Amino acid sequence: MKVAIIGTGRMGKGLLKTFYQAYGQNVLFTGRDVAHAQRTIEDLGLSIQAVTLEEALQADVIIPTLWFSDLLPWAQEHKEALKGKIVIDISNPFNENFDDFTTAYDTSAAEELQKVIPASQVVTAFKNTYWVVFDAPVLQGLKSDVYVASNSDQTRETVMRLLKPMPFRILDAGLLKNSRTIERMTLLSSELARKAGSHPRISFNLWGLEHEGLPKEKQDKAAALNPVS
Ligand SMILES: NC(=O)c1ccc[n+]([C@@H]2O[C@H](COP(=O)([O-])OP(=O)(O)OC[C@H]3O[C@@H](n4cnc5c(N)ncnc54)[C@H](OP(=O)(O)O)[C@@H]3O)[C@@H](O)[C@H]2O)c1
Repeated sequence: MKVAIIGTGRMGKGLLKTFYQAYGQNVLFTGRDVAHAQRTIEDLGLSIQAVTLEEALQADVIIPTLWFSDLLPWAQEHKEALKGKIVIDISNPFNENFDDFTTAYDTSAAEELQKVIPASQVVTAFKNTYWVVFDAPVLQGLKSDVYVASNSDQTRETVMRLLKPMPFRILDAGLLKNSRTIERMTLLSSELARKAGSHPRISFNLWGLEHEGLPKEKQDKAAALNPVS
């Protein structure tokens, strides 16, 4: 399975490093300027070659790392090439001040993207993963959560399997409409982190779920305390 990451910005670089660690040469990378994408790859010390957008769009899984305002026109433009593909949406529809969203409460960036490309499978992931978190996604023994949502059970499972080798706790977040909550969790985490002075090194690890994110001895202790889990 080939994965294409599109965009050389902060999230593009973070995702490139993470996917490259897991999948090496099966990762395709590009931006609006291929030469700049190549320099980005070299700056990160990775041994792949930047590809053109046309080549990137041949991949099975496409991850556009654009801002929401640029994402829908971009998806509209490449609608044909995106047909039948899994498109991982990482966008949060922030306003200009980064203190609210441009979407209404009864929708989400992911759902709006799915409307533009109905013949593609849109999957929400990494919406709560601030770019610096990719460098160290484990804090005090706890992995950062990645909530994966899609309207197709099969596609969600495919993406969860794809992300499994990565140093995150990958969680099944159900249908795409759950992106409304997942995206707004980023908004809340941003405000909390700014108050705490820890922005942007912030992400979620939902307390009380499974124990995968814990070190082995803590997992055993937690399992002994709660034999149902
Ligand atoms: N920053 C975070 O911590 C974070 C966390 C979770 C989710 N997100 C989401 O991730 C997305 C990117 O955030 P970021 O912080 O990585 O932003 P960024 O550093 O500003 O990067 C934005 C990217 O968009 C591309 N781009 C801009 N305008 C474009 C256009 N008209 N057509 C095609 N590509 C265009 C640029 O790629 P090229 O110049 O290489 O073409 C650039 O790589 C946003 O949707 C954001 O909500 C961000």
